[in-house]
Amino acid sequence: TTNHRIALIPGDGIGAEVLPPAQQVLDVLGRRHGFSLSYTSYDWSCERYLREGAMMPADGIDQLRDKDAILLGAVGYPGVPDHVSLWGLLIPIRRSFRQYVNLRPIRVFDGIDSPVRGARPGDVDIVVVRENGEGEYSEIGGRLNQGTSEELAVQEAVFTRAGVTRIADYAFSLAARRRGKLTSATKSNGIIHTMPFWDELIAERAAEHPGVTWDQEHIDALAAKFVLEPARFDVVVASNLFGDILSDLAAAVAGSIGIAPAANLNPERDFPSMFEPVHGSAPDIAGQGIANPLGAIWSAAMMLDHLGRPAAARDITDAIASVLAKTDTRTRDLGGTATTAEFTDKLTELL
Ligand code: NAD
Ligand code: IPM
Ligand code: MN
Repeated sequence: TTNHRIALIPGDGIGAEVLPPAQQVLDVLGRRHGFSLSYTSYDWSCERYLREGAMMPADGIDQLRDKDAILLGAVGYPGVPDHVSLWGLLIPIRRSFRQYVNLRPIRVFDGIDSPVRGARPGDVDIVVVRENGEGEYSEIGGRLNQGTSEELAVQEAVFTRAGVTRIADYAFSLAARRRGKLTSATKSNGIIHTMPFWDELIAERAAEHPGVTWDQEHIDALAAKFVLEPARFDVVVASNLFGDILSDLAAAVAGSIGIAPAANLNPERDFPSMFEPVHGSAPDIAGQGIANPLGAIWSAAMMLDHLGRPAAARDITDAIASVLAKTDTRTRDLGGTATTAEFTDKLTELL
């Protein structure tokens, strides 16, 4: 049997509560589909930072390099500034391993009562393709004159021809394999250097993908349409920051940000890719055993897909659909009373 070597980084808060459910599901599938998974766990977290002064060891990235995939819970916790914890762990992994595609699918499942009137189950099936390596998340900039009345902060956004072109090509190709529709999130009416450049490059790549119908929407109007007409979207390509915001919004439309998965992909497969729920460490509910594990479980399905196990991945997404359609077992964020463990057991039963 093939063994897949997985790096597990539970991280902080509910990150550590949603990874065991994902492993529970993965282990069932390994037995059924004839593969095994071996896990190496890393305690890299805010706790480690407070203890040792760093989120991960100096050779942390090297320790992950030979793994087939990375499964991560969430990073960040009160007590350590977010820019310190995230730029000390999550962002360096995405960048060192050139995971420039952040794939964030969302669906309104049968049995989910969306807070959005028009979001009927079955109608909403969106993939946000988020640029994951550049754009607004740049290290260029700084702070000056701190503590004076002349104080200022500057943060540059960096968009490269290569970076926009490759995310556009990924998104157009994905759209061609789905319903053939792509929407580009822009703001070229307000952001006058980078966003017109983004628009030009998207249009340039569109010409190479004639099978896909595409349009562009300003991010403000697009946010409104995600709420008012979510069923009209198929693939949405967005810059790093816009994609970040749209993915939480889309998840909320689908019922809860606890559901949404993410795949940080290195499409060339030179380095491991990383799979993690879209949500964060949720300090407000951490330690209570009530977090929704679906985002992590769905992320594990995306990991199996990436590892060349599409049938096993489909078993997971089918079980997610079943548990929501056929039972009323739900965690609190979806209006139920089940604990993380109870919900995971119910889903595992349906596998
Ligand atoms: P969050 O996603 O952690 O929480 C937002 C809200 O959603 C909270 O009310 C939380 O209880 C709820 N929620 C989130 N996931 C849930 C789940 N699985 N089940 C039920 N409810 C859930 O976002 P935040 O509050 O902005 O961030 C908290 C910390 O997490 C910060 O340090 C932030 O930087 C970090 N963060 C990390 C990641 C990551 O590691 N990928 C992602 C987002 C935020
Ligand atoms: C996400 C998170 C991260 C991001 C933060 C925690 C840096 O919000 O994965 O969506 O913005 O990429
Ligand atoms: Mn986010």
